[in-house]
Amino acid sequence: MPSSRHIYLPTEIVVQIVSYVAVDELGRQKTLYTCCLISRQWYSAAIALLYERPQVISGISFKRFTETISPPIGTRKNTLNLGSFVHRLNLSHLVHHSSNSLTARLLGRIKENLEVFIAPTLTFSINSLPALSKCANLRHLDLALVHEAIPFTNLKQSISRLPKLVTLRLPQSTILTDPESSKIPWPPSLQRLQISGRFNPLLIPTFTWPQSLTSLTLKNCSLLSLANLSSLLSSPQLGESLKRLTISGANRGLTLDSINAIPAFLPNLTFLSIPGDMVEESFFFILSHTFPPLALEVLEFGLPCAELKLNFTTKTFLGALDNGLESLRSVGFAEELVTDQRLEEDEGIDEILQERNKRRRSQPGAESQDDEEIVGVYYI
Ligand SMILES: *[C@@H]1O[C@H](CO)[C@@H](O)[C@H](O)[C@H]1NC(C)=O
Ligand SMILES: *[C@@H]1O[C@H](CO)[C@@H](O)[C@H](O)[C@H]1NC(C)=O
Ligand SMILES: *[C@@H]1O[C@H](CO)[C@@H](O)[C@H](O)[C@H]1NC(C)=O
Ligand SMILES: *[C@@H]1O[C@H](CO)[C@@H](O)[C@H](O)[C@H]1NC(C)=O
Ligand SMILES: *[C@@H]1O[C@H](CO)[C@@H](O)[C@H](O)[C@H]1NC(C)=O
Repeated sequence: MPSSRHIYLPTEIVVQIVSYVAVDELGRQKTLYTCCLISRQWYSAAIALLYERPQVISGISFKRFTETISPPIGTRKNTLNLGSFVHRLNLSHLVHHSSNSLTARLLGRIKENLEVFIAPTLTFSINSLPALSKCANLRHLDLALVHEAIPFTNLKQSISRLPKLVTLRLPQSTILTDPESSKIPWPPSLQRLQISGRFNPLLIPTFTWPQSLTSLTLKNCSLLSLANLSSLLSSPQLGESLKRLTISGANRGLTLDSINAIPAFLPNLTFLSIPGDMVEESFFFILSHTFPPLALEVLEFGLPCAELKLNFTTKTFLGALDNGLESLRSVGFAEELVTDQRLEEDEGIDEILQERNKRRRSQPGAESQDDEEIVGVYYI
């Protein structure tokens, strides 16, 4: 006769086992689900982990997830507040599977402990803002895929008091220089910001940056002419706090002059990424006469705006290495810009940077360097 006796395990042991199986990212969801089916004891040990960062990849799994978290009125509810277990939700792959009101309701259910939220393309709207404003533990908010034009003033208002928000990616078509929005403070801890959209040129002078911004990405912005970019980046506050600037090739209206002006406004950047085809000889010519040297450690020539080629010679680049680019440790090229000639010349650049780094590290009093840091040439 088969024994139906269970071996009793103390709850602490079950918790240990469950947290151990949860480490495997790939099988995590399936294994935790199975754990929940074993017994009441296992269910209570595994349920919080199962909902911590759910993978809702397909429309069907999204439907089941929302029905469980936020059951339709009149149906039997779970006695646990399952929504409060959710820490991280990535809805980037959902397209037509939700609706504006469903996303808003879901956000309301998971607001308590949500730390990371990646919004879906079509179903995040102004409806979601009230729930968003209550996500007091949110650290990372990614709205970059959002299609609907959400008025920036309303958006800023809803996130303005989120104390832990560190990273924010704004929706594609944000109009940043809405006069009302400048009266509303940025979230107090905001450090990393990605901007896509438009600045009203007339209102740029009233635009203020977050107080402690360290990293800024301009992606698919229009009207970044020299005058406009200059007046945006010449803020003394930005000059002091900003360490990383990325200007992607998808911006419209960029000019060579506006790129050339960046080192003058932001000499304290340690990382700069610019579209590879928007850099020409004059950029390095200016840098070969720049003193004191820039703080720049990493320079990246990213995906080009228009032409798949670089418009400067290695010789001019090397000329700046001994002057304005004295602190440079590595240089990156977008794969799209790499040619056979490039590869050959990069060997030379790589050698110089490696050699220089070795010398610097052997100097007495040299700051200890992170071994993870890339030195030399790399490709992206
Ligand atoms: C969100 O999910 C998408 C699609 O699965 C993935 O490509 C992306 O890296 C995820 N984002 C984060 C921050 O995990
Ligand atoms: C840039 O933004 C416009 C809307 O302002 C959008 O139509 C276009 O798809 C975006 N391009 C990229 C590369 O994101
Ligand atoms: C922004 O650029 C536009 C067009 O180039 C120009 O007319 C306007 O004066 C610029 N605004 C600022 C504040 O520089
Ligand atoms: C760059 O950093 C130095 C030293 O921390 C500081 O004195 C200077 O004001 C900064 N430059 C700008 C433009 O903020
Ligand atoms: C490349 O740079 C030269 C000057 O250095 C300029 O005359 C030419 O227009 C540039 N070509 C492109 C495609 O930007």
